[in-house]
Amino acid sequence: MPDLPQPTDGTAAAAAPSEEARLGSTMENGAPAPSDRNSLTLGPDGPILLHDVHFLNQMAHFNRERIPERNVHAKGSGAFGVFETTEDVSAYTKAALFQPGVTTEMLARFSTVAGEQGAPDTWRDPRGFALKFYTSEGNYDLVGNNTPIFFVRDTMKFPHFIRSQKRRGGSGLRDNNMQWDFWTLNPESAHQVTYLMGDRGIPRTLRHMNGYGSHTYLWMNAAGEKHWVKYHFHSDQGVEGLADADATRIAGEDADFHRRDLYTAIARQEFPSWTLSVQLMPYDDAKTYRINPFDLTKVWPHSDYPLVKVGTMTLNRNPENFFAEIEQAAFEPSAIVPGIGFSPDKMLLGRAFAYADTHRYRIGPNYHQLPVNRPRVPVNTYTQDGPMAFEHRADDPVYAPNSFGRGYADEVGVATDGWEADGAMVRQAYTLRPDDDDWSQAGRLVREVWNDDQREQFVQTAAGHLLAGVEGDVLERAFAYWRNVDAETGKRIEQLVRSKSEGDMPGGQPDRAKADAAEPVVESHTQ
Ligand code: HEM
Repeated sequence: MPDLPQPTDGTAAAAAPSEEARLGSTMENGAPAPSDRNSLTLGPDGPILLHDVHFLNQMAHFNRERIPERNVHAKGSGAFGVFETTEDVSAYTKAALFQPGVTTEMLARFSTVAGEQGAPDTWRDPRGFALKFYTSEGNYDLVGNNTPIFFVRDTMKFPHFIRSQKRRGGSGLRDNNMQWDFWTLNPESAHQVTYLMGDRGIPRTLRHMNGYGSHTYLWMNAAGEKHWVKYHFHSDQGVEGLADADATRIAGEDADFHRRDLYTAIARQEFPSWTLSVQLMPYDDAKTYRINPFDLTKVWPHSDYPLVKVGTMTLNRNPENFFAEIEQAAFEPSAIVPGIGFSPDKMLLGRAFAYADTHRYRIGPNYHQLPVNRPRVPVNTYTQDGPMAFEHRADDPVYAPNSFGRGYADEVGVATDGWEADGAMVRQAYTLRPDDDDWSQAGRLVREVWNDDQREQFVQTAAGHLLAGVEGDVLERAFAYWRNVDAETGKRIEQLVRSKSEGDMPGGQPDRAKADAAEPVVESHTQ
């Protein structure tokens, strides 16, 4: 049993009340509040009076205290810190934050995906690894996960995938059968599901997990030369997972276990850090590489593209107000800076739209103006006004071009951060490359990366997940799914599930004929 941080009654660094909080209470207009204890009534036993405006404002504002939680990644924890570029990668990117010796203020938010805001931190789920760098060229957001791959390869599937992980409309319950129905009908999920059921599927603490940009991005240097890039943040604390039994116990004892650990570690000045390295693929390699380098369900083997160190991220400051600085933080893959671009990854391109759009709904169209989201450079945009806008530009021109000195951006010609594309409009996954299939990389993870203990733990975890409500055709497909990942391991998962479910069902016989007839899941790369 690892040495785990213990739950406590309070935080180590309970903040002292501000000067304003010590003064007398006021109404929202700043005038002294009449009473925070008694409403105004007609006699001690009479009705409340409508002109008790302080009472009315308190009630009405309370009703509006919450903003919608994030549609996904609702439960999260965050802290501020710095990123320092310790190496010289200027040959690959001109981005100011990645120039040697540059230090950039930043914010990190780590999250679970499917659970709601109060969900236990230690449920098995990928962890979000969202970073906001307040660079000298504007905000750069890298919104990744603690896994280098993802469940699907086309944004079109994302809402369907998420609904399969959330709650059923009727019962309001989460449902493993629904999850496996989706996964087995989308074999491209195999790599990510294997990772999720493995020993990194539940991090011991948020400090003990790696982070990945996951997608392929574009880097450009000052001379305009381009590379494709993948980001890896390796935990300097080491990578450690939680076994299912520990995770389940902790979920009951302290639902905020990971949040508490991060907060208290920083309060004790034990600042967690991560080393950023990148894999760099020369621009033209992408045309002929044996794996489609933009497919988010695949990794690039390090033997083909080794890690190149860039710098260190250190988290050293807790939020002073969780709502203002973590709940209202708006991370968006669309926030990029010169020297960094998108790629033809269909997931990344979809995400370039989704996040800013959800922020407009969740926080409001002027979310950029909130202190946590505000770039640390002058913002000179022509977008203006709207709900809760508080930054205005008086009589500055509100249109472009104009004759009154306010800048007019006018890039023309070939986009420097673009790539070539040609062909008919189609609806299909990427063009298949020689080594593109949905099973091989997952199989190599099981056979070549894991040791016997890790494989055994994986068999137990996958079987346990299937035993919790997966049935009928979905279960048969799940067995075939695992056999496709790795024949031997798949067989063991199936045997374990069948033996345990026989034990659970007196007189019940496994449907051998059906099991033997189970077809391997159809390869769906082109679907
Ligand atoms: C959060 C959409 C894929 C990582 C979110 C949110 C949405 C969303 C709507 C809520 C944002 C908010 O309310 O602030 C999508 C769509 C995807 C996608 C449409 C399909 C392509 C991914 C992938 C990753 C990822 C592939 C990681 C590689 C995250 C993280 C957050 C998040 C870390 C939480 C950000 C935070 O801490 O505020 N996503 N997502 N998402 N997503 Fe995605």
